[in-house]
Amino acid sequence: MEPFREIRVRVPASSANLGPGFDALGLALGLHLRCTLRPSSQGLRIVPQGAASEGIPADASNLIWRIFSKLAGPEVGQNFELVIENDIPLGRGLGSSAAAVLAGLAMAIELKGGGGEGQTRQNLIERATEIEGHPDNAAAAVMGGFVASCQTESGSVLALPCAAPRTFEALLVIPQFQLSTESARAALPGQYSRKDAVFNVQRVALLLAALQNGRIELLGEAMRDRIHQPYRAPLVPGFEEILKLRNIPGLLATALSGAGPSVLAFCQPLAGDSAQDAPAAAIQDCFRKNNVESSAVRLPIDHDGIVIERNS
Ligand code: HSE
Repeated sequence: MEPFREIRVRVPASSANLGPGFDALGLALGLHLRCTLRPSSQGLRIVPQGAASEGIPADASNLIWRIFSKLAGPEVGQNFELVIENDIPLGRGLGSSAAAVLAGLAMAIELKGGGGEGQTRQNLIERATEIEGHPDNAAAAVMGGFVASCQTESGSVLALPCAAPRTFEALLVIPQFQLSTESARAALPGQYSRKDAVFNVQRVALLLAALQNGRIELLGEAMRDRIHQPYRAPLVPGFEEILKLRNIPGLLATALSGAGPSVLAFCQPLAGDSAQDAPAAAIQDCFRKNNVESSAVRLPIDHDGIVIERNS
């Protein structure tokens, strides 16, 4: 292990699926997990900070630490300070676990000398996919922007950026309750009809073409889904009403963000002087009618993906 002063990693939040692209499409968002690893002479010290630090363990059970120490190996020991500054709400479908896994992996890879940048990124996507079970959050968080990903039968992951216009914004409406990906996946059926499979294939194709051609008026149809959202809707009170919202000024499309419970909406940009966010108000209203409090935020798209820095 080469001596180092600190290793810093920044990983964006991500919204997976984008409606029909279950386990295949993801988008990186401008909300981050930042980790700093420093050698220490006083054993392991984990310091959770940031807007979403509540619930992050400050001991060796911490997910980032567990992933890091497993990959780094016992020879690196426990003499580290790990500062975790997290702004990604946990358990809300915003890729917090993928970000944690990637941060742990990235610090371990960097500690061991890193690799070429492209090789490190591919390595990160594949290792995180193996841990997460699906590539969509990890690929978007590593690469930034809109990303299509595919697991091959031999276990590798093919991930490519998708062209997208910058003429619309991502609105996230985040309920105040958590939903585990595990239970949201357990709600899905084992088999689908050909009709539903074709429904989704057509919409994923339309979604990618609409993004590439800047046809944002088609996003509403292109982001409809029959593979996961109908089965998860009972777990997210208000979501069925949200999917039925029509004619809300500025609202282009809605989808469950990842496994939920957050809602991703694509919207026309707010007028500079506008204090009123009509899509946010309409979505929050659906939640409120179902006794679910939520917060709403327009987030920029993160185009950088993971950033890893070593300071000696
Ligand atoms: N594609 C995954 C799912 C994303 O929907 O279960 C989980 O964040």
